[in-house]
Amino acid sequence: MKRKLRIGIVGCGAIGTSIARAINREFRAQAKLASLFDIDRKKALLLAAKLKNKGIIALSLDSLIKKSDLIIEAADANASLAITKRALNKGRDVIIMSVGGIVSHMDQLNTLAKKNRSRVYIPSGAICGIDSLKAISLRKVKKVVLTTRKNPRSFEDSEYIRRKGIRLDKIKKDTVLFYGDARQAIKLFPRNVNVAATLSIAGIGQARTKVKIIASNRIKRNIHEIYIESEAAKISARVENSLHRDNPKTSFLAVLSAIATLRQILQPVRIGT
Ligand SMILES: NC(=O)c1ccc[n+]([C@@H]2O[C@H](COP(=O)([O-])OP(=O)(O)OC[C@H]3O[C@@H](n4cnc5c(N)ncnc54)[C@H](O)[C@@H]3O)[C@@H](O)[C@H]2O)c1
Repeated sequence: MKRKLRIGIVGCGAIGTSIARAINREFRAQAKLASLFDIDRKKALLLAAKLKNKGIIALSLDSLIKKSDLIIEAADANASLAITKRALNKGRDVIIMSVGGIVSHMDQLNTLAKKNRSRVYIPSGAICGIDSLKAISLRKVKKVVLTTRKNPRSFEDSEYIRRKGIRLDKIKKDTVLFYGDARQAIKLFPRNVNVAATLSIAGIGQARTKVKIIASNRIKRNIHEIYIESEAAKISARVENSLHRDNPKTSFLAVLSAIATLRQILQPVRIGT
Protein backbone atom coordinates (compact mmCIF):
# COMPACT_ATOMS: atom_id res chain seq x y z
CA MET A 1 0.00 0.00 0.00
CA LYS A 2 1.22 3.49 -0.87
CA ARG A 3 2.36 5.59 2.08
CA LYS A 4 0.15 8.58 2.92
CA LEU A 5 1.48 11.99 1.86
CA ARG A 6 2.71 13.74 5.01
CA ILE A 7 1.68 17.41 5.00
CA GLY A 8 3.18 20.20 7.12
CA ILE A 9 1.46 23.58 7.46
CA VAL A 10 3.47 26.73 8.17
CA GLY A 11 1.20 29.48 9.47
CA CYS A 12 -1.80 28.52 11.59
CA GLY A 13 -4.05 31.48 10.76
CA ALA A 14 -7.21 31.58 8.65
CA ILE A 15 -5.83 29.68 5.65
CA GLY A 16 -3.69 27.20 7.62
CA THR A 17 -6.63 26.33 9.88
CA SER A 18 -9.05 25.77 6.99
CA ILE A 19 -6.56 23.60 5.10
CA ALA A 20 -5.74 21.55 8.19
CA ARG A 21 -9.43 20.83 8.70
CA ALA A 22 -9.86 19.91 5.04
CA ILE A 23 -6.94 17.46 5.19
CA ASN A 24 -8.51 15.67 8.15
CA ARG A 25 -12.00 15.77 6.64
CA GLU A 26 -11.50 15.20 2.92
CA PHE A 27 -8.11 13.64 2.28
CA ARG A 28 -7.75 11.12 5.11
CA ALA A 29 -7.33 8.20 2.73
CA GLN A 30 -4.33 9.63 0.88
CA ALA A 31 -2.80 12.23 3.18
CA LYS A 32 -2.01 12.92 6.78
CA LEU A 33 -1.49 16.21 8.60
CA ALA A 34 1.98 15.55 10.00
CA SER A 35 3.10 18.86 11.46
CA LEU A 36 2.13 22.47 12.26
CA PHE A 37 4.38 25.46 12.80
CA ASP A 38 3.67 29.11 13.58
CA ILE A 39 6.06 31.80 14.84
CA ASP A 40 3.28 32.65 17.26
CA ARG A 41 3.21 29.45 19.28
CA LYS A 42 -0.23 30.29 20.68
CA LYS A 43 -1.65 30.05 17.14
CA ALA A 44 -0.17 26.58 16.65
CA LEU A 45 -1.45 25.49 20.07
CA LEU A 46 -4.94 26.78 19.30
CA LEU A 47 -5.12 24.94 15.99
CA ALA A 48 -3.68 21.72 17.46
CA ALA A 49 -6.32 21.91 20.21
CA LYS A 50 -9.09 22.36 17.62
CA LEU A 51 -7.77 19.29 15.82
CA LYS A 52 -7.40 17.43 19.14
CA ASN A 53 -3.80 16.62 18.26
CA LYS A 54 -1.23 18.51 20.36
CA GLY A 55 1.50 16.13 19.20
CA ILE A 56 1.74 17.67 15.76
CA ILE A 57 3.18 21.03 16.80
CA ALA A 58 6.73 21.50 15.52
CA LEU A 59 9.13 23.62 17.56
CA SER A 60 10.94 24.88 14.49
CA LEU A 61 10.52 25.19 10.75
CA ASP A 62 13.31 22.66 10.20
CA SER A 63 11.59 20.13 12.42
CA LEU A 64 8.33 20.58 10.43
CA ILE A 65 10.20 20.13 7.14
CA LYS A 66 11.80 16.93 8.43
CA LYS A 67 8.39 15.41 9.22
CA SER A 68 6.67 16.43 5.95
CA ASP A 69 6.71 15.47 2.26
CA LEU A 70 4.68 18.53 1.23
CA ILE A 71 4.88 21.91 2.98
CA ILE A 72 2.00 24.36 2.76
CA GLU A 73 3.17 27.94 3.29
CA ALA A 74 0.29 30.02 4.69
CA ALA A 75 2.32 32.49 6.73
CA ASP A 76 3.55 35.82 5.43
CA ALA A 77 5.03 37.44 2.32
CA ASN A 78 8.14 38.39 4.33
CA ALA A 79 8.84 34.74 5.07
CA SER A 80 7.53 32.76 2.09
CA LEU A 81 10.77 32.83 0.10
CA ALA A 82 12.92 31.63 3.01
CA ILE A 83 10.40 28.91 3.92
CA THR A 84 10.22 27.70 0.32
CA LYS A 85 14.00 27.62 -0.13
CA ARG A 86 14.51 25.69 3.13
CA ALA A 87 11.89 23.12 2.08
CA LEU A 88 13.19 22.74 -1.50
CA ASN A 89 16.75 22.31 -0.24
CA LYS A 90 15.51 19.29 1.71
CA GLY A 91 13.82 17.87 -1.39
CA ARG A 92 10.27 18.71 -0.23
CA ASP A 93 7.40 19.98 -2.37
CA VAL A 94 5.79 23.30 -1.46
CA ILE A 95 2.41 24.99 -1.94
CA ILE A 96 2.87 28.75 -1.63
CA MET A 97 0.08 31.10 -0.59
CA SER A 98 2.09 34.29 0.13
CA VAL A 99 2.92 34.70 -3.55
CA GLY A 100 3.97 38.35 -3.19
CA GLY A 101 7.08 37.15 -1.35
CA ILE A 102 8.36 34.88 -4.10
CA VAL A 103 7.22 36.53 -7.34
CA SER A 104 10.61 38.21 -7.94
CA HIS A 105 12.52 34.99 -7.32
CA MET A 106 10.90 32.52 -9.69
CA ASP A 107 14.12 31.69 -11.59
CA GLN A 108 15.91 30.88 -8.36
CA LEU A 109 13.05 28.66 -7.15
CA ASN A 110 12.85 26.92 -10.51
CA THR A 111 16.56 26.08 -10.40
CA LEU A 112 16.39 24.94 -6.79
CA ALA A 113 13.31 22.78 -7.38
CA LYS A 114 14.90 21.19 -10.45
CA LYS A 115 18.13 20.48 -8.58
CA ASN A 116 16.30 18.82 -5.68
CA ARG A 117 13.61 17.12 -7.80
CA SER A 118 10.90 19.00 -5.90
CA ARG A 119 7.85 20.88 -7.02
CA VAL A 120 6.44 24.31 -6.26
CA TYR A 121 2.68 24.80 -6.52
CA ILE A 122 1.05 28.23 -6.68
CA PRO A 123 -2.75 28.01 -6.37
CA SER A 124 -4.86 30.40 -8.47
CA GLY A 125 -5.94 32.01 -5.18
CA ALA A 126 -8.79 34.48 -5.09
CA ILE A 127 -9.13 34.95 -8.88
CA CYS A 128 -10.25 33.10 -11.95
CA GLY A 129 -8.68 33.15 -15.39
CA ILE A 130 -5.24 31.78 -14.50
CA ASP A 131 -5.89 28.68 -16.63
CA SER A 132 -6.55 30.70 -19.80
CA LEU A 133 -3.80 33.20 -19.05
CA LYS A 134 -1.30 30.32 -18.85
CA ALA A 135 -2.48 29.07 -22.23
CA ILE A 136 -2.68 32.37 -24.10
CA SER A 137 0.77 33.37 -22.77
CA LEU A 138 2.22 30.76 -25.14
CA ARG A 139 1.54 33.37 -27.86
CA LYS A 140 1.45 37.15 -27.97
CA VAL A 141 -0.27 38.89 -25.03
CA LYS A 142 -0.87 42.61 -25.37
CA LYS A 143 -2.34 43.52 -22.05
CA VAL A 144 -3.16 42.15 -18.60
CA VAL A 145 -4.98 44.49 -16.24
CA LEU A 146 -6.17 43.65 -12.74
CA THR A 147 -8.62 45.95 -10.99
CA THR A 148 -9.06 45.15 -7.32
CA ARG A 149 -11.80 46.70 -5.19
CA LYS A 150 -11.80 46.24 -1.46
CA ASN A 151 -13.42 47.85 1.54
CA PRO A 152 -11.13 50.59 2.95
CA ARG A 153 -10.76 48.53 6.15
CA SER A 154 -8.78 45.94 4.18
CA PHE A 155 -5.92 48.41 3.85
CA GLU A 156 -5.72 49.31 7.55
CA ASP A 157 -2.27 47.82 8.11
CA SER A 158 -0.77 49.22 4.90
CA GLU A 159 2.45 51.14 5.41
CA TYR A 160 1.87 52.96 2.09
CA ILE A 161 -1.52 54.28 3.23
CA ARG A 162 0.01 55.52 6.49
CA ARG A 163 2.89 57.22 4.66
CA LYS A 164 0.52 58.91 2.21
CA GLY A 165 -1.63 60.12 5.12
CA ILE A 166 -4.78 58.62 3.55
CA ARG A 167 -7.64 58.55 6.08
CA LEU A 168 -9.41 55.30 5.25
CA ASP A 169 -12.31 56.13 7.59
CA LYS A 170 -13.02 59.27 5.55
CA ILE A 171 -13.39 57.46 2.22
CA LYS A 172 -17.00 57.96 1.12
CA LYS A 173 -16.74 57.34 -2.62
CA ASP A 174 -14.66 54.91 -4.68
CA THR A 175 -11.02 56.06 -4.42
CA VAL A 176 -8.12 54.84 -6.51
CA LEU A 177 -5.32 54.10 -4.04
CA PHE A 178 -2.89 52.89 -6.67
CA TYR A 179 -2.44 52.48 -10.40
CA GLY A 180 0.79 51.14 -11.83
CA ASP A 181 2.66 47.95 -12.59
CA ALA A 182 2.35 44.78 -10.55
CA ARG A 183 5.91 45.08 -9.19
CA GLN A 184 5.08 48.36 -7.44
CA ALA A 185 1.65 47.14 -6.33
CA ILE A 186 3.14 44.02 -4.72
CA LYS A 187 5.82 46.08 -2.98
CA LEU A 188 3.33 48.61 -1.61
CA PHE A 189 0.47 46.21 -0.76
CA PRO A 190 2.12 42.84 -0.01
CA ARG A 191 -0.89 41.52 1.92
CA ASN A 192 -3.50 42.71 -0.57
CA VAL A 193 -2.26 41.75 -3.98
CA ASN A 194 -1.22 38.10 -3.95
CA VAL A 195 -3.50 37.84 -6.97
CA ALA A 196 -1.35 40.39 -8.87
CA ALA A 197 1.70 38.25 -8.11
CA THR A 198 0.00 35.07 -9.33
CA LEU A 199 -1.23 36.80 -12.49
CA SER A 200 2.29 38.10 -13.18
CA ILE A 201 3.83 34.64 -12.85
CA ALA A 202 1.19 32.97 -15.00
CA GLY A 203 1.25 35.68 -17.66
CA ILE A 204 3.56 38.46 -18.81
CA GLY A 205 5.52 39.35 -15.68
CA GLN A 206 5.36 42.08 -13.08
CA ALA A 207 6.52 44.95 -15.26
CA ARG A 208 3.84 44.48 -17.93
CA THR A 209 0.93 43.45 -15.69
CA LYS A 210 -1.03 46.54 -14.69
CA VAL A 211 -2.84 46.88 -11.38
CA LYS A 212 -5.48 49.32 -10.17
CA ILE A 213 -6.44 49.22 -6.49
CA ILE A 214 -9.67 50.90 -5.44
CA ALA A 215 -11.02 51.42 -1.93
CA SER A 216 -14.80 51.35 -1.91
CA ASN A 217 -16.87 51.67 1.25
CA ARG A 218 -19.98 50.48 -0.63
CA ILE A 219 -18.68 46.91 -0.82
CA LYS A 220 -18.12 44.20 1.73
CA ARG A 221 -16.58 41.69 -0.70
CA ASN A 222 -13.17 41.70 -2.38
CA ILE A 223 -13.81 42.21 -6.09
CA HIS A 224 -11.19 41.35 -8.70
CA GLU A 225 -11.67 42.18 -12.38
CA ILE A 226 -9.25 40.87 -14.95
CA TYR A 227 -8.96 42.13 -18.49
CA ILE A 228 -6.66 40.39 -20.96
CA GLU A 229 -5.98 41.22 -24.60
CA SER A 230 -4.04 38.69 -26.63
CA GLU A 231 -3.60 37.08 -30.02
CA ALA A 232 -5.72 34.12 -28.94
CA ALA A 233 -8.55 35.84 -27.08
CA LYS A 234 -9.88 38.86 -25.24
CA ILE A 235 -10.86 37.85 -21.74
CA SER A 236 -12.85 39.72 -19.11
CA ALA A 237 -13.44 38.08 -15.77
CA ARG A 238 -14.87 39.30 -12.49
CA VAL A 239 -14.87 37.60 -9.11
CA GLU A 240 -16.84 38.85 -6.10
CA ASN A 241 -15.25 37.07 -3.20
CA SER A 242 -16.90 36.20 0.08
CA LEU A 243 -14.52 36.94 2.90
CA HIS A 244 -13.01 34.32 5.16
CA ARG A 245 -14.84 34.09 8.50
CA ASP A 246 -11.61 34.32 10.55
CA ASN A 247 -9.72 36.89 8.47
CA PRO A 248 -11.67 39.49 6.46
CA LYS A 249 -8.50 40.31 4.48
CA THR A 250 -8.53 36.82 3.02
CA SER A 251 -11.04 35.60 0.45
CA PHE A 252 -12.77 32.28 1.06
CA LEU A 253 -11.98 31.32 -2.56
CA ALA A 254 -8.22 31.58 -1.86
CA VAL A 255 -8.60 28.89 0.80
CA LEU A 256 -10.68 26.66 -1.45
CA SER A 257 -8.16 27.16 -4.24
CA ALA A 258 -5.38 25.82 -2.00
CA ILE A 259 -7.53 22.83 -1.04
CA ALA A 260 -8.32 22.20 -4.73
CA THR A 261 -4.58 22.32 -5.51
CA LEU A 262 -4.01 19.71 -2.85
CA ARG A 263 -6.76 17.57 -4.33
CA GLN A 264 -5.11 17.90 -7.74
CA ILE A 265 -1.80 16.69 -6.27
CA LEU A 266 -3.51 13.68 -4.70
CA GLN A 267 -5.65 12.64 -7.67
CA PRO A 268 -4.46 10.83 -10.78
CA VAL A 269 -6.68 12.88 -13.12
CA ARG A 270 -5.89 16.59 -13.46
CA ILE A 271 -8.49 18.96 -14.81
CA GLY A 272 -7.72 22.39 -16.20
CA THR A 273 -4.64 23.84 -17.83
N1 LIG B 1 -2.65 33.50 -2.89
C1 LIG B 1 -3.74 34.15 -2.52
O1 LIG B 1 -4.65 34.41 -3.31
C2 LIG B 1 -3.89 34.58 -1.09
C3 LIG B 1 -5.14 35.00 -0.62
C4 LIG B 1 -5.25 35.37 0.71
C5 LIG B 1 -4.14 35.37 1.54
N2 LIG B 1 -2.93 35.00 1.05
C6 LIG B 1 -1.73 35.02 1.88
O2 LIG B 1 -1.64 33.81 2.63
C7 LIG B 1 -0.97 34.08 3.88
C8 LIG B 1 -1.82 33.54 5.03
O3 LIG B 1 -3.08 34.19 5.05
P1 LIG B 1 -4.07 34.08 6.30
O4 LIG B 1 -5.35 34.73 5.94
O5 LIG B 1 -4.08 32.68 6.80
O6 LIG B 1 -3.29 35.01 7.36
P2 LIG B 1 -3.42 35.01 8.95
O7 LIG B 1 -2.88 36.33 9.40
O8 LIG B 1 -4.77 34.61 9.37
O9 LIG B 1 -2.40 33.86 9.41
C9 LIG B 1 -1.03 33.89 9.16
C10 LIG B 1 -0.33 33.08 10.24
O10 LIG B 1 1.04 32.92 9.88
C11 LIG B 1 1.85 33.12 11.03
N3 LIG B 1 3.17 33.53 10.60
C12 LIG B 1 3.58 34.76 10.16
N4 LIG B 1 4.89 34.72 9.82
C13 LIG B 1 5.31 33.46 10.05
C14 LIG B 1 6.56 32.80 9.89
N5 LIG B 1 7.63 33.45 9.47
N6 LIG B 1 6.65 31.48 10.21
C15 LIG B 1 5.57 30.82 10.68
N7 LIG B 1 4.35 31.39 10.85
C16 LIG B 1 4.23 32.69 10.54
C17 LIG B 1 1.11 34.16 11.85
O11 LIG B 1 1.49 34.12 13.22
C18 LIG B 1 -0.35 33.74 11.62
O12 LIG B 1 -0.79 32.81 12.59
C19 LIG B 1 -0.75 35.59 3.94
O13 LIG B 1 0.57 35.91 3.54
C20 LIG B 1 -1.72 36.13 2.92
O14 LIG B 1 -1.29 37.36 2.33
C21 LIG B 1 -2.80 34.58 -0.24
